[in-house]
Amino acid sequence: MEQFNHKLAQFFSHLWPAEEKVLVFGEGRSEHPAIMLIGEAPGEQETLQRRPFVGKAGKNLDGFLEVVGLQRGELYITNVVKIRPTRTSAKGRLSNRPPNREELALFTPFLMEEILRVQPRLIVTLGNTPLRALMGAKAVIGGVHGRMQTAIVTHEKQSADFSIFPLYHPASIIYNRALQEVYQADLLALKALLEAGG
Ligand code: URA
Repeated sequence: MEQFNHKLAQFFSHLWPAEEKVLVFGEGRSEHPAIMLIGEAPGEQETLQRRPFVGKAGKNLDGFLEVVGLQRGELYITNVVKIRPTRTSAKGRLSNRPPNREELALFTPFLMEEILRVQPRLIVTLGNTPLRALMGAKAVIGGVHGRMQTAIVTHEKQSADFSIFPLYHPASIIYNRALQEVYQADLLALKALLEAGG
């Protein structure tokens, strides 16, 4: 993926030459992994460590791995948007915000290229942002979570079908007991699916 990451870095350094935006690249098994896990965007810890899904999100990921019975290194892990979207409060505090339209439009074509390079056997999306990047703006996680979907991924002249298994974003369900149970049931469905697929 070195070539791809280099291209990404080049593009964004030209786009925002004055700003030092930290890019958090995907990591893990980059050739035909059993799962390519796609989140929304890096947060503070991810930006500090320049790795996706560390800190609190990393803890959630550990829970995911334990249930489905895979090691982190067996997956390819990435985000739709590869910079940390932030807002500054009136008091000057920096916090995360959802990616805006411009960020999504800039990064989504790179995600398509990334998927076509990695050729995962299955894509697991976390929350609405990666789901919509792959299945269109009208997709809603509440309607498709825990059930296999198919998406056509296109970049330049290349195009291929991929299986998508949408999950809620674990960070978004922290305060919702009912959704936590749904998320756990979806993880078990994913595990069964992986076992059935060999
Ligand atoms: N950290 C990530 O890398 N991605 C997310 O979606 C959330 C936290």
